[in-house]
Amino acid sequence: MLSGKEVAKHNTRESCWIIVHDHVYDVTDFLSEHPGGSRIILKYAGKDATQEYDPIHPPDAITSNLPPEKHLGPVQPDTVEKVVVQITDEEKARLERMELRPSLDEILNLHDFESIAKAVMPEKAWAYYSSAADDEITIRENHAAYHRIWFRPRVLRDVSTVDFSSTILGHKTSMPIYITATALGKLGHPDGELNLTRAAAKHGVIQMIPTLASCSFDELVDGARPGQVQFFQLYVNKDRAITKRIVQHADSRGIKGLFITVDAPQLGRREKDMRQKFDAEDPAEVSKAGNDKVDRSQGAARAISSFIDPGLNWGDLKWFKSVTKMPLVLKGVQCWEDAVEAYDHGVAGVVLSNHGGRQLDFSRSGIEVLAECVSHFKEKRGLSFPNDKFQLFVDGGVRRATDVLKAIALGASAVGIGRPFLYAYSAYGPDGVDKALQILRDEFEMNMRLLGAPTIKDVVPEMVDASNIGSHIVAVPVDSLYNSNCI
Ligand SMILES: Cc1cc2nc3c(=O)[nH]c(=O)nc-3n(C[C@H](O)[C@H](O)[C@H](O)COP(=O)(O)O)c2cc1C
Repeated sequence: MLSGKEVAKHNTRESCWIIVHDHVYDVTDFLSEHPGGSRIILKYAGKDATQEYDPIHPPDAITSNLPPEKHLGPVQPDTVEKVVVQITDEEKARLERMELRPSLDEILNLHDFESIAKAVMPEKAWAYYSSAADDEITIRENHAAYHRIWFRPRVLRDVSTVDFSSTILGHKTSMPIYITATALGKLGHPDGELNLTRAAAKHGVIQMIPTLASCSFDELVDGARPGQVQFFQLYVNKDRAITKRIVQHADSRGIKGLFITVDAPQLGRREKDMRQKFDAEDPAEVSKAGNDKVDRSQGAARAISSFIDPGLNWGDLKWFKSVTKMPLVLKGVQCWEDAVEAYDHGVAGVVLSNHGGRQLDFSRSGIEVLAECVSHFKEKRGLSFPNDKFQLFVDGGVRRATDVLKAIALGASAVGIGRPFLYAYSAYGPDGVDKALQILRDEFEMNMRLLGAPTIKDVVPEMVDASNIGSHIVAVPVDSLYNSNCI
C-alpha cells in the first residue's frame, strides 16, 4: 500500500499522481487529454483531489478513462495530508445565508427557488446553472414568450375533479411535464441528479438522464424504483464506438427514449460561467497553462464538452436506428423546417428547445417555434397535434403550470423543465424538488379548473390566444428573473 508521503513526491507535470477516494492514480500522460485542462489536476498533484473531483465527475470517470496500469493502488488514508479548504469570508457569509433561508413552507412558486438559490449557492455552481449565452437575451425571451399568450377559459363545465395525467412516448406521467437533462448535478448538492430520480419516482414523472451527469448513469438507473420510466439525453461523441457503447448500454438498462441533443455542435459562450472559472484560477497557474493546446479558461461548460461531434448530421439517424430500438427524439430543433425533416426521417418526436438559452443567443423560444410547427405540419404533411405518432415537446423558461397548459393547448405532448429543479435541490436538497413538483401539481389542479378543462385532452387550441407570439420585444435585462451575466 502506498503512503501519502510517497504520493506527495509526484507533484509536477513530469510526474503527476493524485488521490481520489483513497486510491492513487498516475495521471501524468492524461494531463493534456483531461477535458477540464491540466491546470486543475496540477493544483492537486501529489495530493488528495477527491473534493474537487466529486461534483464534476461520475464516480467511475477516472477508472474508465485511465489504463489499468495507471491505477497505482490504495493509499494508507492516515498518511495522507488533509487538503485544507480555506473558508473565506464570502463562504462564511454564504453558509450563514443558507442557515437563514426561508422555510420550505414559505416557498410559493418556482421563481422563489431561483432567488433563494442565487443567495445560497456557491458562486461557481450558480454561474454554471444560471448562465446563458452571450447577452442572455434568449433565456429571458424563453420565459417572456409565455407572457404573450393569453387564456380564453370556458365556464360552466363540471370541474369537480380534474385529471392532469398524460403520456409521453406512450409512458404514463402524472403531469404533462418531464425533468429535462441538466449536466453537473453535484455542483448544487452532493446527491446530484439522484435528487431528481427520487422525486420523479415519488411524483410519477419522467426524468431524462444527461450524458454529463455527475452521478454515473448506472447509479441513476439503480436509484429508480422498479418500473420507473427514464429517458436518456445523448451528446454524440466523435468516436462512434463510444456512442454505440453508451446507447446500447442505455437500451439494455431499460431506458425508454433516446433524446439526441442537436443544438450543440459547439457549446455556447456562457460568459458568467467563463468569468467565474477564470477568476477562480490561481494566477500562477494561468501562466503554466500556456502549455495547453486548448484555452481552458472558459468555464465548466466548455471544459466538459470537447468530445461532442460537430459533424453530426441527418445522415447519422439511420445509424442510430441500426444500433438501438429506443425511440429517437431530437432535442434542440428550432424551426418548422427541421421539425418536418425530423418527421420525414422517422424519429418519434422533437424537443423544440434552445437549450435554456445557453447556445445561440437570439434563437426563438420553444413555445414560439411550437406555434409555427403546428401550422406548417398541417399544411405540409396534413398532421395535427398532439399526435402520438410524432410528438412535439417544448422546453425553456417554463415556471408555472399555466406555461405548460399554454404549450399543451398549442399542441405540445409535454414540456421539459430544467433549472427550477436544480435550484430547488441546491437550496433545499431532496425536499426542494419534492416541493417544486407539489407546487406544479397544485397549480395544475387550480388552473385546469379555472380554464374549464377536466382533463389534458380538454386543453385545446381555442383556449389560448397566441396571435402575438411572434412579436419580439427584447426583454430589458433589468427584469427580476435573471441578472446581468456579469457577477
Ligand atoms: C445547468 C444546465 C445544464 C444543462 N445541461 C444540458 C445537457 O447536458 N444536455 C442537454 O441536452 N441540455 C442541457 N441543458 C438544457 C436543458 O436540457 C433544457 O433545454 C433547458 O434547461 C430548459 O430551460 P429551463 O432551464 O429554463 O427549464 C442544460 C441546462 C442547464 C440550465
